[in-house]
Amino acid sequence: MQSLTHPIGRCLLVWTLVVQLVLQGSGAYADSTTKNCKLTFESESERKVLQRIESLGHRNFSAEAKIGEAKYSYVFRLCADAGGVPGAGVIQVEGPKTEKKITVIGMYNATEVIGGSDYVWLLYGNGENYDTHCSQEQRKAILMIFCNRNFEVGQLEIVQENRERVQNCFYQFKLETSAVCPPLEYKLSTGSIILIVVVCLVAVYLIGGFLYQRLIVGAKGMEQFPNYAFWREVGNLSADGCDFVCRSRDREEPPTYTGVSTEPLDEEPEERDDHLLPM
Ligand SMILES: *[C@@H]1O[C@H](CO)[C@@H](O)[C@H](O)[C@H]1NC(C)=O
Ligand SMILES: *[C@@H]1O[C@H](CO)[C@@H](O)[C@H](O)[C@H]1NC(C)=O
Repeated sequence: MQSLTHPIGRCLLVWTLVVQLVLQGSGAYADSTTKNCKLTFESESERKVLQRIESLGHRNFSAEAKIGEAKYSYVFRLCADAGGVPGAGVIQVEGPKTEKKITVIGMYNATEVIGGSDYVWLLYGNGENYDTHCSQEQRKAILMIFCNRNFEVGQLEIVQENRERVQNCFYQFKLETSAVCPPLEYKLSTGSIILIVVVCLVAVYLIGGFLYQRLIVGAKGMEQFPNYAFWREVGNLSADGCDFVCRSRDREEPPTYTGVSTEPLDEEPEERDDHLLPM
């Protein structure tokens, strides 16, 4: 973020923002994986939360757990078939000691999401029924996704399988990613954006003009500045204006104007040159 203090860095930031706005406006992100998730309660706001974790799509996540002798591994995918099981968002694979047994924990056609400023909770319902626990209800998976700016995507962890309840049991997973972090705010007000754009334009004008004067017109020295004569005039006029406005004492008028009545004109050079004479 150091580059932001540099004028060129700011120019780049502004252009990046502009390009992003243009891309978003033209629907360049329309082809999303999260569209494959079917929300239990379809709503615009939940779709927006899903879009925040869009970057987790096209990835396989897996976690291992050991309970006594049994080894379990879990696979999670965002709005796509986990482990190739159609419709499954989270599966549990028991093994490898025994024959591999796949249990669907949650399906992405029963998705719910809750989002906060720096976290997203994702719930997949509709999993396979419990055999004996939890009133033999359907399994479900809850994935807690937390903000961590240290890496793009961390490791999937299984936190717990809570099946001691009579109902509403769940498998709880945890994942850390920078995708759900709140955007770093540079608090660019409209005023400062305009200022930055103006600075950028001035820089382009100066550099472009300089190159034009130097390479095409073939100017040398100060003449290489674009519109040098014009700006020198502007500089002189503003100096005059400043002189007129800011000077507190009267200007020392040249003697040619003051000495109209008293001193004859031809005496003046003598006075001025006095100090130049050798003593
Ligand atoms: C994820 O796993 C599925 C099936 O196991 C496989 O077909 C796919 O290529 C994997 N994708 C990535 C990005 O590893
Ligand atoms: C999700 O898909 C499964 C299997 O294809 C189906 O049995 C179930 O009814 C679907 N659920 C919803 C909410 O669409």
